[in-house]
Order: sequence, then structure tokens, then C-alpha cells
Amino acid sequence: MSRAIAIAPSILSSDFARLADEAARMEAAGADWLHVDVMDGHFVPNLTIGAPVVKSLRSVTELFLDCHLMISEPARYVPDFLAAGANGITFHVESEGDPRETAAMIRAGGARVGVALKPGTPVEAALELLDVVDMVLVMTVEPGFGGQSYMADMAPKLERLRDAIAASGREIDLQVDGGLNPETVKHAAEAGANVIVAGSAVFKPSDAAEAIALLRSGASPS
Ligand code: DX5
Ligand code: ZN
Repeated sequence: MSRAIAIAPSILSSDFARLADEAARMEAAGADWLHVDVMDGHFVPNLTIGAPVVKSLRSVTELFLDCHLMISEPARYVPDFLAAGANGITFHVESEGDPRETAAMIRAGGARVGVALKPGTPVEAALELLDVVDMVLVMTVEPGFGGQSYMADMAPKLERLRDAIAASGREIDLQVDGGLNPETVKHAAEAGANVIVAGSAVFKPSDAAEAIALLRSGASPS
């Protein structure tokens, strides 16, 4: 059986001056998770936010805080994100450190473990970690910025992961991130994705509830 669809608005596209309001707006609009893009200006060519902001968000929302670490040394900062109240921590297989050790650290801290793949990274890097993860994130843009175009050629990677996850018998989510909108989400969901990150497509329209509903129906099997 396939996993439930979850919509995870990315706060990267929100108004950072009104973060509490934006989180509340997403909660009211029917978001399942809040996706938090953490960038260090080294792993990716952009700087965003860190654990203190996650801590502040934790104090104003009940939403599942899905932290996507686009940073070179995830293990160094995992304790901070755990202490801040992250519910899920996803790190990149291309980053430094032993992925199994980083995964164990996240799990020991009580959060869900995710591993992410940049578009150019072979799927095998995640397949070999399926026994220690709760989610695999397939990037459908080059990480670093919101508002880019969806890379449809990531479908084979999603399909390989979907099949391997089914064969593993483990409950593992398959997340997509980058360029998702009510059209592209259909393509990603058909290839196996069940957790949908969307920044521009949710925060730009005035009606976030409608935007989330459109993503959800686009991702649901017809
Ligand atoms: C990109 C980030 C994404 C991004 C998605 O590095 O990981 O989460 O905010 O934004 P959209 O949906 O606008 O492509
Ligand atoms: Zn992200």
C-alpha cells in the first residue's frame, strides 16, 4: 500500500518578517508539514536560516517541522536542530560525514530521518541507506533557490526508489522538492512521490488553501 500524501509548504517562499503568521496561515490552509530550508552558503550558494528560527517556529506551530539541511557538515548541527524541536531532519548524501552515523544521531534524538539526493547524484546512494531512513528526498531542482523549474527527468530515480521502498517492507516516505505545482505534482506522484514540498506554488497565490488542495488532488491517484 502506498503512503499517505503530505503537502509540505517551504517557508523559503514565505514573508520572513511575518514567520509566525505565515506558519499559522499554512496550518489553517491545510498543510501537513512545514518544510524548512537550511542553507549554509557552502554546500549551496545561498544562506538562509538556522536552528534558532526552527526554535521560534516550534513555539508558534503544531505543524511537523521538516528540516532540509543543505549544509556541508550536517552532523555538526543535528543536535541544535533536535534541541530546537525539529520533527524530521533530512541531510544530503553528498555532504560530509558518515551517513549512517548522522542518521543514528537523528533517530536517537527522536526525529525522523531523511536523506536527500541532488539531481546529479545516482540513486544508489540512497538505496544503500533504506534500512536506516524514514524518508528519501529526490531534489527536482538544483538545491539553493526557490522558484526554479521542475526537472521531469528525475522520474526514473523516483521509480527506482518507489520499487525499492516497496520491496524493503519498511514505511519510507518519498519526497520531492523543487518546481512542484498543480501540474508537475501529477508527474512526480505517478513516479511514486508521496510527500510534496512546494514554495512558490503555495505562498505566491493569495488563496493558500486552494493551492494546497490543488496540489493534494494532483498528487492523489485518480
Ligand atoms: C530548494 C529548496 C526548496 C525550494 C522549493 O533548494 O530545497 O524547498 O524552496 O521552492 P519551489 O517550490 O518554489 O521550487
Ligand atoms: Zn527543501
